[in-house]
This record gives sequence, C-alpha cells and structure tokens, in this order.
Amino acid sequence: MSVRDEFDDWAASGRDRGMEDRHWHTAKHALARMPVEAGDTILDLGCGSGYAGRALLDTADAGRVYGLDGSPEMAQNAASYTDDPNVCYVVGDFDALPFADDSIDHVWSMEAFYYAQDPEHTLAEIARILRPGGTVFCAVNYYEENVHSHGWQESISIEMTRWDREQYREAFREAGLAVASQDTIPDREIEIPPADQFPTEDWETRAAMVERYRQFGTLLTVGVAR
Ligand SMILES: C[S@@+](CC[C@H](N)C(=O)[O-])C[C@H]1O[C@@H](n2cnc3c(N)ncnc32)[C@H](O)[C@@H]1O
Repeated sequence: MSVRDEFDDWAASGRDRGMEDRHWHTAKHALARMPVEAGDTILDLGCGSGYAGRALLDTADAGRVYGLDGSPEMAQNAASYTDDPNVCYVVGDFDALPFADDSIDHVWSMEAFYYAQDPEHTLAEIARILRPGGTVFCAVNYYEENVHSHGWQESISIEMTRWDREQYREAFREAGLAVASQDTIPDREIEIPPADQFPTEDWETRAAMVERYRQFGTLLTVGVAR
C-alpha cells in the first residue's frame, strides 16, 4: 500500500484530528522551543491535519508555513481547517522536497519522518532546503528505545524505520546537520487509568503504560544547517 492509500483512509475517517489531539501533548513543548523569528518560513513535513504549522503562525509569528503531506486527503483536510493566506498545503513526498536550496528557515516534523522510504536522503533534502543556521525539529514516538512502539509496524502497511537515539544523531551529522540537542519529552497529559482497570484494550499493565508515556514519550532530535 502507498502512503497515499494508507493515509487517505486515515484522513477520511477523521484520524487526522485524533492524531492532532494525541500528538499535541508533547508536540506543543517541542514547538515552543523552536527559534522562530517573525517572518520566518516553516515547513511541516508530514503535516497531517496541519495543526503544528498553524500553531507556529499564531504563537511564534512565523511569516509563511508550508505543510507537505503525501496524502492528498490529509492536505485537503488541513486546508479546510484554516483560511489563513500565509499557510499553504502541498502534496509531495519526503524523497523530493519541492523547495529551492536555502529557502526554508525551519523544518518541523512530528510522527512522520520514520515513514521516509530513504531517510538518509530525506535528511539530505532537508539540509539542502534549509538556510544556513536554519533548524530541523524531528519528533518521533516510534524509536528503538521505546520498546512499546516496536509492534506498530504490524498494523501499518508502509515500511517504517526504527532508529535509536544514536542512529538519529549519526544520520543528522552524515547529512551535514549539526546536532544541537536530543532528548525525550514525556506525555504528562494522557489519562492513565488506575491499576485495577488493567489490562485495558491496549495495555497489559499500568507500569507499561506509564513507561510508554511518562518515561519514554517523544524523542526529539534538533539539527542545525551549516
Ligand atoms: C502519523 S501521521 C502524523 C501527522 C502529523 N504530523 C501529526 O503530528 O499528527 C504521518 C503523516 O506523514 C505523512 N507521510 C508519511 N510518509 C510520507 C512521505 N513519504 N511523504 C510525504 N508524507 C508522508 C502521512 O500521509 C501522514 O499524514
């Protein structure tokens, strides 16, 4: 199945908004760290509902936001959630970013990068379009140290790349991006039921759910273009 087939289905069934609600718990903390200055141009890679770019326009005074997604239905939904003329949604693939060299100030990507079919090449593309000193904020919940994410591949038809922390840092450097920081952001908002309600539909034990959200959370790697 292609990205388009998989995620068009998600968009059509409202999962774009469901992801937005869940991802916002940690995404908002990462977004607040972005060194966006008034008028900056932002690219949201794998934008889904497009919430992150719109938040950067509202709170950080970004000048222009592009949301790129391989699913036309996702891009169409995202466009329907705003009438801001400074936001533009583009259907495209991580393999070939339709932007000129040195044309973007900051790249944001939440829970999307690991779907890239050639992640090293995608990082090279990011490095190409970023202006020197521009940043990439790459946030993922699917990563090696998060053992609770390892089963996700079974329910998704697109091949996913599960790197560990060091592999992210190494790949960023290989692409010519300096690694400015890397850490995990815990999800302190997801409701964790009391112990007597386990097992739940998704979780065997409360300890596992606590570890997944409160301890592991979202891995954020920040790169800077040279
Ligand atoms: C799990 S969703 C995350 C959406 C959003 N960033 C969020 O935080 O809710 C991943 C998104 O990446 C897009 N995507 C996956 N692989 C892609 C690719 N190779 N090129 C472009 N978009 C892709 C999907 O269509 C989907 O909308």
